[in-house]
This record gives sequence, structure tokens and C-alpha cells, in this order.
Amino acid sequence: MHRDEQLTALLAHGTVIPVITINRLEDAVPLARALVAGGVRLLEITLRTAHGLAGAEAIMRAVPEAIVGIGTVLTPEDLARAVAMGARFALSPGATPALLDAAAAAPIPFLPGIATASELMAAMQRGFHTAKFFPASTAGGIPGLRALAGPFPAARFCPTGGISAANAAEWLAEPNVIAVGGSWLTPAAEVAAGQWEAIRARASQVSAQMPTQVPAQMPAQVPAPGAAQVPRPG
Ligand code: 3PG
Repeated sequence: MHRDEQLTALLAHGTVIPVITINRLEDAVPLARALVAGGVRLLEITLRTAHGLAGAEAIMRAVPEAIVGIGTVLTPEDLARAVAMGARFALSPGATPALLDAAAAAPIPFLPGIATASELMAAMQRGFHTAKFFPASTAGGIPGLRALAGPFPAARFCPTGGISAANAAEWLAEPNVIAVGGSWLTPAAEVAAGQWEAIRARASQVSAQMPTQVPAQMPAQVPAPGAAQVPRPG
């Protein structure tokens, strides 16, 4: 299955992806159980702490309904670790040439982070037509995303950075948005206090309100990796 198809299949399981930072390894499994119980199955476990990979592994063992991706992938080595531990997908806040090259050869879907047209072009040249738009709220917000839709009609986005319960639905209503991500589903204070029921209840509310799948996610014809874009004026 092509990576874009793999990604579309994964996103059929939800359009809201919590961005999770594991500060204490023992929180990983109850946190994932709370999210899954609330109907949120796609999880981004970040590599921001020493417990990221171990937490992701623990979730994969104990919570099989969770669909675990690894986030804050900054280097080809991070990506290799994510693949080796069985992550279903990976995301980065950015898109260095080295990381894009490694991701193009990786067996799992990868969402590079982009905030500008040039970053998106570098990603698309290597076959990545779905990107994390990061940091979404300060990189132009919804008007910024709409501006990118003009020259890049084939691009699809998962905005993160500043997404909240208050604006998630607004972002998801954009035709080039296939999912949204963010830390608001797992507030650090609730995690630290073990307030799993509060996290489950929020997840449940979010999953009931958000579309389970955004229609027409992928363009009918995705240009081959490296294919030149037809130059357009402006
Ligand atoms: C990310 O990596 O996606 C962001 O740090 C999430 O941003 P948020 O904390 O504003 O949701």
C-alpha cells in the first residue's frame, strides 16, 4: 500500500490526534486507556522526554486499540527508532532534507512539519503530500492555510500548535485539513494528577463532535515523487 493510502486508512480512525508528552512512564498506559475509552484512538507520542519511546511501547503492548504514532521526530535516527518500535506513523515539527530523505525510504507514513511554501515544496518533491502545519496558529492560522491551498491544491494538512477545543472544528472544516492535533486533549495538570476520567470525558466529547473522516482527503492523482510542478504565475 502506498504511504498516502496507509495514511488515509489510519485517518479513517479519527480526525483529532492528541499530542502527548510522557513525563512519567507510569502515566502512559492509563492515559492511552482514557483516550481510547473516549473514542480517540490515533495518538502522537512525542519524543520530548526520555520516556517517549518506552511510553509508546508500553501503550502498544497494553492498549491494542490505540494507533500509536511517534512525534517530535527530529532526525533520521529518531525515525529509525520509531519504525523499529512498531510505530504506525511518525510526525515532525519540521522537514530537514536529511529527515525527508530518510522518511521517503521508511515503511510508515510520515507527516513532515511545514510552515512555509518552500518547506512544503521540499516535502512534496519527496512525495509527501500531507504535512503537519506547524505552528498553525502563529504560522498564519486559517488564512495562512487557505493561502497555501491556492498554489498547492494537492496538499493536505494536519494543523497543530494552538489548536484547541474552541477552534478544532473550524480548522477541520477547511477543505485541505484532514486532521488536527494538539496537547489540549491531555492537559499536563490532569495527567500529573491522574485525572483519567476527566481526560476520557473530554476525549468522548471531542470524538462525538468531530467528523470521523474528512471527505475527499486525497487528490485523485498525486504527482509522482520529484515530479515537477507546472509553474503558475503568482
Ligand atoms: C505539536 O508538537 O504539535 C505542538 O507542540 C502542539 O501544540 P499545542 O501544545 O499548542 O497543542
